[in-house]
Amino acid sequence: MNRKSYQGLTFRPYIESNQIQARVREIGEQIAKDYEGKYPLFICVLNGAAPFAVDLFRSTPLDAEISFIRLKSYEGTGSTGKVKEVMGLTESLEGRDVILIEDIIDTGNTMVKLLSDLRLHNPASLRIATLLFKPEALINEVNPDYVGFEIPKKFIIGYGLDIDGFARNLNDIYILDEEAEA
Ligand code: IMP
Ligand code: MG
Repeated sequence: MNRKSYQGLTFRPYIESNQIQARVREIGEQIAKDYEGKYPLFICVLNGAAPFAVDLFRSTPLDAEISFIRLKSYEGTGSTGKVKEVMGLTESLEGRDVILIEDIIDTGNTMVKLLSDLRLHNPASLRIATLLFKPEALINEVNPDYVGFEIPKKFIIGYGLDIDGFARNLNDIYILDEEAEA
């Protein structure tokens, strides 16, 4: 795997595709055990969580549904702090076992907003699955139930995660190489 360059920034390989896929399969199997006899509804937060949500959904040997919402809060490499409304929720969550699928929890601001909005729809249960989690960046009380990888407070791209819309289609995850900066 080679370094990648976007917006004048250099990124180095960080988590390989086969490691990601193996971890996603483990989480899928764990969810299947935890939800045995239930029909959970996976809710994917677009755009970033799309690859993870779809791979996780396919890795969960259980009758389940998937749906997609959108809530954007991030631009460039720094959080704008502006969190928008949830868009695209079409099914009823009343009495459903919901698993919210995110790409990454950074400050946790997005997750807090999502959880409070979704709770208004009275799901029977509401859990969080996130591919990546930056515990050092967290400024809210958020406890994700399923975590792919805990990572340092650094900027990450690939496998859904973007830099201004680019790099989502990389199969591996890359980390900003601060030493490579001019
Ligand atoms: P939070 O609200 O600060 O937890 O940030 C959540 C959102 O910010 C995520 O859903 C991502 O879209 C974006 N984000 C946070 N950290 C990164 C990163 O390292 N790379 C790309 N996007 C990120
Ligand atoms: Mg996101």
